[in-house]
Amino acid sequence: MAGREHDVILCPMQKIAIVDFGGQYTHLIARRIRQLGVYSEIVFPGSDPTALQDAIGVIFSGGPFSVYSDEAPKTHPGWFELDIPLLGLCYGHQIINARLGGEVKRGDQSEFGPAELSPEATHPLFAGLSKRTVVWMSHGDEVVRLPPGFRVIATTRDCPIAAVASDTQRFYGLQFHPEVTHTPEGNRILRNFLEMCGARFEWQVSRYLHDLEAQLREKCRDRKVFLLVSGGVDSTVCFALLNRVLGPEHVLGLHIDNGLMRHRESEEVLAFLRKEGFNNLLVRDAGETFLAALALTCSPEEKRRIIGETFLQVKDAELKRLELNPDDWLLAQGTIYPDTIESGGDGNAAVIKTHHNRVAGVRELLEKGLVIEPLADLYKDEVRELGLLLGIPEKLVWRHPFPGPGLGVRLLCNNEATREIDAELKEQVADFLEGRGFAGEILAVESVGVQGDYRTYAHPCLVRWPAGKEFSWEDLDTLSTTLTNRFRGANRVVLEVGHSQESPYVLVRAHCDRERLELLRRVDEICTSFLYAEKLYSSVWQMPVVLLPLNLGDKPVVVIRPVVSSEAMTARFATLPFSRVRALWDELRMAGVGALLYDITHKPPGTIEWE
Ligand code: XMP
Repeated sequence: MAGREHDVILCPMQKIAIVDFGGQYTHLIARRIRQLGVYSEIVFPGSDPTALQDAIGVIFSGGPFSVYSDEAPKTHPGWFELDIPLLGLCYGHQIINARLGGEVKRGDQSEFGPAELSPEATHPLFAGLSKRTVVWMSHGDEVVRLPPGFRVIATTRDCPIAAVASDTQRFYGLQFHPEVTHTPEGNRILRNFLEMCGARFEWQVSRYLHDLEAQLREKCRDRKVFLLVSGGVDSTVCFALLNRVLGPEHVLGLHIDNGLMRHRESEEVLAFLRKEGFNNLLVRDAGETFLAALALTCSPEEKRRIIGETFLQVKDAELKRLELNPDDWLLAQGTIYPDTIESGGDGNAAVIKTHHNRVAGVRELLEKGLVIEPLADLYKDEVRELGLLLGIPEKLVWRHPFPGPGLGVRLLCNNEATREIDAELKEQVADFLEGRGFAGEILAVESVGVQGDYRTYAHPCLVRWPAGKEFSWEDLDTLSTTLTNRFRGANRVVLEVGHSQESPYVLVRAHCDRERLELLRRVDEICTSFLYAEKLYSSVWQMPVVLLPLNLGDKPVVVIRPVVSSEAMTARFATLPFSRVRALWDELRMAGVGALLYDITHKPPGTIEWE
């Protein structure tokens, strides 16, 4: 991938380059293309396209900018000089038109939502499509004049230039989004484009595995590989893969218990690996070291940095203890494709969160070529498929993702006696809620979010469902989205499921210590068992349980964050059966919890984890 800072293991297979203009659906486009059977790779507008190998077509993504704005990403001119088909979607469509001599203008009004498309039936991009078909629009600007050589190939009532083509140059543009499910025949259009690119539809995880094995052997040669096995899906699959390809005598796994694991988080995986005969796996308890290093730290990024660097220190100490020469060993990591993007690892994206496998110490090793990341080009569901191919049991493969820094980023800490909340924000939010018949308040804690592709660190707003009103997730969805759009000082909304007493939420000094970790582990276990018992485990992508530095009376306040997602770059809050959530609250109250809050924020604007 262009801009990647380490040696990438690439398969010599046909690929589609997805040029990322910062749109929220970029990963979705890349996933769709792979699901259709062609390998896809995300690259950046400013990168030199001649560096691309084996690309048979290019797709320009959507993006938040206006094509003439100073903030718009700089596009390398070479993208228009490749002799392969180019398809622009939404902003991508506008940039093609603007750059090649057409004109883009702010439309009379923004268009969001479904529209009925009338496509030119004989155009190969629309082969097999209905005469009239619903497409999803989401744009403010639109193309008003075509570049020379282009013609209109589809219209909607409000958008006369909904799709364009220059068949001789093989340039195409769609104002709508074929990649979203709200465009029911979108996959047909994307498949047609792939056919126009001459795709062989050869991408499969099993084929990739085959190529990957050859390349891993080539890359490692005589060197041995050392892998930190957290017990999560990615590192387990990576460990099994390395063992299969290189042989156990060339691989050493180390599971570091950092004291931040969930109850039984890694036991099952370690038991499985042992049972499978992987005797090259060491386990070290380094809980004390991690907790001492975290001590009074409260800033989320600082916690992430400390946890990531401590992993490296413990690893180095272990290599030394085992008298292994670090020069003979490569470090392997189970990093997957989306991981590098949000850590700002591509050089363009803003840092939302530094993942534990992207801290400075790891970056240095990457620069020296001492790190291999066999899964770095795969999405989570592809990693799972690979895991099944490698014989890892379904139950382990389908476990929810668990972040490397573990409970360390689910245990919010605080050093301050009080924290002032902007009075204007408090008042405006109170008025806003009252106007909609809700009660609520801004909480004194803060959490990480992502808005307009940038990191935010702001307050959650707590809302209470009005007594006597019939419960509705739709109303809460609208309330949450409107509130976070309107008030920049609030990046999350939480619904109060229940509270144990009528008293205010009070900020308390709280750190990453054993006592709080034990409490979070217990609460988390209750919540996870609830998901299994209610048969809801597989209907959510993940459900972080977060302990806040807030008390109600003298009791702790807990948040659940169930989300549905396909690759965690975007997510929607999950709507669990609310009567069952109330039953969960009863259980938590019995366990000594003061209040249960339910996070009703999508991503964006709230990230999945709170830190
Ligand atoms: P966010 O919180 O950024 O999380 O919306 C997206 C997904 O990534 C997981 N996550 C991590 N995974 N190391 C990891 O391996 C990390 O440092 C890390 N931080 C977040 C998170 O659980 C979610 O699935």
